[in-house]
Amino acid sequence: TDDTTRPGPTGAPQRPADAAAQQGGRLTTAQGLRLDETEHSLKAGPRGPSLLEDHHLREKITHFDHERIPERVVHARGAGAYGTFRSYGTAASVTKARFLATEGAETEVFVRFSTVLGSRGSADTARDVRGFATKFYTDEGNFDLVGNDMPVFFIQDAIKFPDLIHAGKPEPDREIPQAQSAHDTFWDFASLHTESTHMLLWVMSDRGIPRSYRTVEGFGVHTFRLEAADGSTSLVKFHWKPVLGVHSLVWEEAQLAGGADPDFHRRDLADAITAGAYPEWELGLQVMPDTPDETFEGIDLLDPTKIVPEELCPVQPVGRMTLHTLPENYFAETEQVAFHVANLVPGIHVTNDPLMQGRLFSYLDTQITRLGGPNFAQLPVNRPHVPVDDMQRDGMHQTAVHRGVAPYQPNSLGGGCPVASGAQGYVSVPTPVEGTKVREAPASFADHYSQATLFWESMTPVEQAHVVGGFTFELGKVFEAAIVERMVGNLVRVHPDLAARVARGLGIDVPDLPAAEHGSADGVTPSPALSQVPRE
Ligand code: HEM
Repeated sequence: TDDTTRPGPTGAPQRPADAAAQQGGRLTTAQGLRLDETEHSLKAGPRGPSLLEDHHLREKITHFDHERIPERVVHARGAGAYGTFRSYGTAASVTKARFLATEGAETEVFVRFSTVLGSRGSADTARDVRGFATKFYTDEGNFDLVGNDMPVFFIQDAIKFPDLIHAGKPEPDREIPQAQSAHDTFWDFASLHTESTHMLLWVMSDRGIPRSYRTVEGFGVHTFRLEAADGSTSLVKFHWKPVLGVHSLVWEEAQLAGGADPDFHRRDLADAITAGAYPEWELGLQVMPDTPDETFEGIDLLDPTKIVPEELCPVQPVGRMTLHTLPENYFAETEQVAFHVANLVPGIHVTNDPLMQGRLFSYLDTQITRLGGPNFAQLPVNRPHVPVDDMQRDGMHQTAVHRGVAPYQPNSLGGGCPVASGAQGYVSVPTPVEGTKVREAPASFADHYSQATLFWESMTPVEQAHVVGGFTFELGKVFEAAIVERMVGNLVRVHPDLAARVARGLGIDVPDLPAAEHGSADGVTPSPALSQVPRE
């Protein structure tokens, strides 16, 4: 492969060209042997059996037999595009990451939008979370912002992720995603994990059925730690705001659109870019002080089921992203792109959010299986746009011819090995760590309802009606009455009105809030910050 790039519509180089791609305009075998035809196999006479010696037949069919790779274990269905991120320079006071801190800096990006639970061939319009993953090819290496279109998550600890996904994926016997038992397993999990309640409200809201990928917000979800050039740090949440605004389908529209065109969202993205209506997002930051307890106004910043209300901490714009170029080959680019929360650049750091900590392991691990070995960073869509010399060697699908005899450090032989540059390299923020080994969560993680209540109370009557409709429809597909009752019982703790309307829709008794919990949504005193938020 080579490092040349081909210009995109803005004149800036956009996509790595691949010299190994098919070229020359003549039919050949994989070995370059010219062929005059590929219509007939070699046979013992026109009516005879095919001959084992027909290498062209066997090579062609063998390659075809191996054309599929495993789909992503989650987020299997997606659509992507290349674009450019332009920094306003306003983030310079909080991060030394050059692509954010330098006013006017332009950085190429690849974005992949996705649904979470459906298989590669599922419909775009399903009620689900949307992935919003961005790879910034910065001049300091790749930074991946692997987010979703909702600001919170179902669980607080990565160790629960396999359980969550097992409960949500299609039923194991009939592989029908929306069958009764699959609804039972998901709602069984959800009703037994009250920490999911806030996220459930987002998924049952209009946000669960976006109008277009062009009209979804994006969230880094976790709190990140940013580091400025002077060494000062802050705790930060990332937000993407669509310039077109946030728009959703209503349930009936989603049903019709999905039935008529299961590719509704990927077609919309491709059509818009082809027509020159380039989708745009503004990147924004919520910046909070880096205090030892890692809370802001009483909100635990390490808890991924909590937002920081924008009324308490406004989102400050730091740059704008324009998507302008479609992939030329879905498999090579959109399917083989590999994002990872651990792909960071100087000035951006992770925190101890236990969901984020588990993600730091999971992505590289799964991609080694999905992309057939450890060398997928060499694929054009994954390759950093800066020189790479990582001393890694060999492995499945190695395409580089490495030079030098001493791929280790330090060495006294010279050759093709990098020398650590000291001042320029990535250094983790020196943060003190101490503790006693325990399998338990912080006490603040026990507040499972106050922000769900906040979200419910912030909605207009129409939005509330759609949430009631979402819960009623979904729980109406659950077979086990005990699961439905438990779930509606949890909703009482969000708001008695929500629970009563869902119960009436399902034709079941309206559950009452346990007497001990009257006066507090969940038995946990809401944080002072939340009670200050203006409620409509
Ligand atoms: C894939 C987001 C939590 C494991 C993805 C993708 C996104 C995403 C956007 C699709 C990437 C692409 O387009 O290729 C998130 C968010 C999370 C979250 C926002 C929570 C806030 C987790 C957790 C785990 C996990 C807790 C595991 C412990 C995976 C795996 C993939 C994936 C295995 C497939 C990656 C691949 O095959 O390339 N996630 N995820 N995720 N996620 Fe997450």
